[in-house]
Amino acid sequence: MIELKGRKIILGVTGGVAAYKAAELTRQMVKAGASVHVVLTEGGAHFVTPVTFQALSGHPVWTDLWDPRMGNNMAHIDLTRDADCIIVAPATADVMARLVQGRCDDLLTTLCLARDCSLLVAPAMNRQMWQHPATQRNVAQLVADGVTVLGPDAGEQACGEVGMGRMLEPEVLCEAVISHLENKRLAGRKVVLTAGPTFEAIDPVRGITNSSSGKMGYALARACAQAGAEVVLVSGPVAMPVPYGVERISVHSALAMRDAVMSVVDDADVFIGVAAVADYRPAEAAEHKIKKSGEVMQITLTPNPDILAEVAARPNPPFCVGFAAESRDLDTYAEGKRKNKRLPMVVGNLVQDGLGQDDNEVVIYDAAGRHPVPRAAKHNLARSIVKHLAELLAAR
Ligand code: C5P
Repeated sequence: MIELKGRKIILGVTGGVAAYKAAELTRQMVKAGASVHVVLTEGGAHFVTPVTFQALSGHPVWTDLWDPRMGNNMAHIDLTRDADCIIVAPATADVMARLVQGRCDDLLTTLCLARDCSLLVAPAMNRQMWQHPATQRNVAQLVADGVTVLGPDAGEQACGEVGMGRMLEPEVLCEAVISHLENKRLAGRKVVLTAGPTFEAIDPVRGITNSSSGKMGYALARACAQAGAEVVLVSGPVAMPVPYGVERISVHSALAMRDAVMSVVDDADVFIGVAAVADYRPAEAAEHKIKKSGEVMQITLTPNPDILAEVAARPNPPFCVGFAAESRDLDTYAEGKRKNKRLPMVVGNLVQDGLGQDDNEVVIYDAAGRHPVPRAAKHNLARSIVKHLAELLAAR
């Protein structure tokens, strides 16, 4: 992943037991390409030592407002000047109260006050502390001050109680940071996508399906959400987690996929058909499991609706993007598909290149011609595709 490449992120770690998860968050952000600089409060250092964060981030860890390592003794200014954001994770009830008051009684709060970048906080505390009116007042004030509050989550707590107050998991926080820093080129837009295969029942336990991992569709849904869009993902059966910030509607058959799409596409600005929709379904699905007879068996197939073509043929269609996975003559078939279905944009790939894999090589076809996108991880391809479609959409 390179989604945080070139980014400088200040990670503030305060005194809650979830501080141990901040070590994993450091790792995740570093893996995503960020330069992570950790500021540990006195409380945070009771839970995890600076050595852990230094080893994981590859940078010195800052704990003291008066740190002599900083030449001009102005760590509170110098650390944030070229930072892209500060994330405080875990954020205790105490640090949030101090942030609300604009206090500067340690390096982290002073940095937050002196910052000229955005601030994100991930609260973590006992459920009673979270529910307390004082904490709730402080959270509301932080939001009003432009701070992004991430979570908390509900669930089991370190103290043995169950309720709201768990810090979001490191991977969710890393996603939130990526999303926060992404160009919001689809802000205010609603995107509907289909992804995965469809499953056409023969009987209650058997069916016809297509080979599709859903990786490309899910990567695109995630990239659209990160670009600021409201995203609804209508997904066939796949083993993929719902991307951060995406609403998923799970379906099995092409007919159910079509119904789900039609129920949400009215106010969509963009429709992207990534799903490998089965072209045919059994004309009738047996009510009970078909028993083996040893005889030749025939299944009559009937065509499924073409969801993408139907959406594109609506009176005021959204900006429609189709996918063409071909085994040969990509240019001819993909461009033909674009024209036949009257699509402003088609993304084509040769199937041997990408099916089920994490990377792929695609060509974008639009009215201006063909635009090859070199081999890259699917989440990077997704960003290139979103950038291209956002430009076409804006020029409409
Ligand atoms: O017509 P063909 O299946 O080759 O076109 C592929 C594109 O059309 C993909 O974007 C796919 O998601 C979409 N499609 C659809 N409904 C179908 C068949 C394909 O939305 N029944």
